[in-house]
Parts: sequence; C-alpha cells; structure tokens
Amino acid sequence: MKRMGTAVIGCGAISGVHLKALSQLPLTELRAVVDINEALARKTASQYGCEAYADYREVLKRDDIDVVHICTGHHLHAPMTVDALAAGKHVLTEKPLAESRDSARAVLEAEARYTGVQLGIVFQNRYNPASRTMKRYAESGELGKLVCMKGLVTWYRSADYYNSEWKGRWATEGGGVLINQAIHTLDLMQWLGGEIASVKGSVTTDSLEGVIEVEDTAHARIVFRCGAKAIFYATNAYLRNSPVELEAIFEKGTLHMKGDRLYLIQGDETAELCRPEAVNELGAKSYWGVSHAVQIRDFYEHVSEGRKFWIDGKEGVKALRLVQDIYESSRLGKRIDYP
Ligand SMILES: NC(=O)c1ccc[n+]([C@@H]2O[C@H](COP(=O)([O-])OP(=O)(O)OC[C@H]3O[C@@H](n4cnc5c(N)ncnc54)[C@H](O)[C@@H]3O)[C@@H](O)[C@H]2O)c1
Repeated sequence: MKRMGTAVIGCGAISGVHLKALSQLPLTELRAVVDINEALARKTASQYGCEAYADYREVLKRDDIDVVHICTGHHLHAPMTVDALAAGKHVLTEKPLAESRDSARAVLEAEARYTGVQLGIVFQNRYNPASRTMKRYAESGELGKLVCMKGLVTWYRSADYYNSEWKGRWATEGGGVLINQAIHTLDLMQWLGGEIASVKGSVTTDSLEGVIEVEDTAHARIVFRCGAKAIFYATNAYLRNSPVELEAIFEKGTLHMKGDRLYLIQGDETAELCRPEAVNELGAKSYWGVSHAVQIRDFYEHVSEGRKFWIDGKEGVKALRLVQDIYESSRLGKRIDYP
C-alpha cells in the first residue's frame, strides 16, 4: 500500500504525541514539520528524520504531503485548516475546531466545499475504554434511560503555564478552562446525552485574576432533549490535576468514571469495568487522556479506505458550541435555549 505523506504544523507541547504516534504507523511517512520557531522546527525535524519549515504554506504546496496535523494555538486552527483543505490536504486538527463561532463557521464551510478531503478533530478521550463503555451502555439501553449526569474537572494551571504567545487571551485561546481543558469532558457529556435542549452556565476567574483575561473556573447545567439533566463544574484553580470524573445515572444503574477507571454501581454492588492501561508510550500527560495514537490510527484508516471519518467538523463543533453557549449564558445571565 502507498504510504501517505504527512506534515505536523506546530512543534510545541502536544506535537510529540502526534509525532510518536505517526512514527508507529506503517500507513504514513512523516515528511515535514513546521514551526515559526525555526530552531525548534529544525530540532524536531532532525529528531524525526524529515524536513523543517517555518511557513506552513510551503508545505501545502508539496504534492507528496497528503495529510497535515495542526498542533498550534487555537486561533490558528481555522485559517490553517481552511488553507490546507483548499490545498487538497486531509486535516487532523487538535481541539478545539476554532477559537470563535465565526472561525468555526469558516471551517465548516470549507469542509462542506472541499469534499475530496477529510477533516478530523482530535477528541482522543472518546477512544478511552471507559468512555467507549459508557457510550455502549447509553446506546444499548441495558441500564434503562439516562436520568442525569455529573462532570467534574478539577485541575491546576499556574500563571507560568499562561506565559505563552496564545494562552490566556480571548483573541487567541478563545476562552480558558472551558475551551482548552474541559472541552473534552463537555464533548463526552454531549456524546452520551445526545441533543441538547438548553444550557445555563457561568464563568469566573478565581485564582488567576489579573494574570489571564479568560476564565479559570466555570459551571453549567445542561438539559438534554431525552429529558436527562446534567451538572458540570470545571476549574484550573485547584492545586492538583485530579482525574476527571463523569457520572451517568441510568434508571437501572450508575456508571462512574474516574480518570481511566469505570465502575458500574447497582444497588450495593460495585463492579470495576475498566482500569488504566499499564503504559503510556506516547509520553502524553495522563490528564490529557492516553488515546491519541488510537484516534490518529483510526483517522488514517478511514482516509486510506475512503471512509468518512466520524469526528469530523460537524461532530467536533458540538462541544465547541456548548462551550460558546456557556460563555454567552454567562455574559447574558440567562439560559440559552436550543432551537
Ligand atoms: N488533545 C489534548 O489532550 C491536547 C493536549 C494539549 C494540547 N492540545 C492542543 O494542542 C494545540 C497546541 O497546544 P500546545 O500546548 O502544544 O501549544 P504550544 O504553545 O506548546 O505549541 C504551539 C506551537 O505552535 C508554533 N506556532 C505558532 N505559530 C505558528 C505558525 N504560524 N506556524 C507554525 N507553527 C506555529 C509555536 O511556535 C509553538 O511551538 C492546542 O490546540 C491545544 O489545545 C490538545
């Protein structure tokens, strides 16, 4: 089988997870890495045996690059995705799809227009065994109807973390804990709960007031069309990165996810359904989730077999919409009803 030529744009913190996953994929050949920090691009290129670029548009001109991975700050996802799709490249972009509603619209328009290429959004936690098991229960109806859910993200991000060219500002990060860290948990909640009827939420900057423009803490109440109700709390103002907790109460049992562990509680009985994988070879921090390599392989398998990838723009924008609606609800001080 012909190997797909690949480029990774952005050689910062998350890029190593993509690069290591790619190096283990026989379907692909890494041909270029890009970073405006030329020394970093060169160092990464020599480590992975490919060419270094400072301008991603040069890579988009190469006929031997079929797929680009976008691993830059949030405000660059939309313009880079649109340019890459227009240049005939498949795109796998890190979450979120974009930093604002307008940018997200531009990406969705490009996705609809350039039908010969695929767009994938990284939501690796959907591939975690615990999340997949929860989804199976939600779909099978084995535990009856979903009654309510609870999502908790209690993490720590220091002022130093925000010493970045894009983090901590509305224009470039597009928000704080919601759009960057907790979007994964919101994505799982909307994936399990289905269509949303309304959301009311509020955001605040509790610990890093004066340091960042964006919120470090948020809460929300989400009502689903199926009748289930959810509460959600996220903060970067805790002092540890605790495992994310997600609880889904069904008529006949409760699923409780804590990090990579999943328990089924029925009456007095508790069964452990999933436990953490022993090794994380990609070097991903455990609180990021460990399923990047699984999603990346799945994306390439879909592309190479000409099958539509399932976490595309339309799917990836759902969590972003929820994030944006919590911001709007907070700004307006009222519930947002979905049409
Ligand atoms: N899925 C996850 O769990 C997860 C975890 C961490 C980060 N991320 C996402 O990955 C993305 C990158 O995050 P990060 O922490 O690696 O950021 P980072 O700031 O460490 O890295 C971004 C890199 O992009 C480079 N860059 C900036 N402008 C560029 C341009 N025009 N062309 C090429 N390179 C450019 C910067 O020089 C930097 O090296 C973000 O979208 C973030 O939300 C996802």
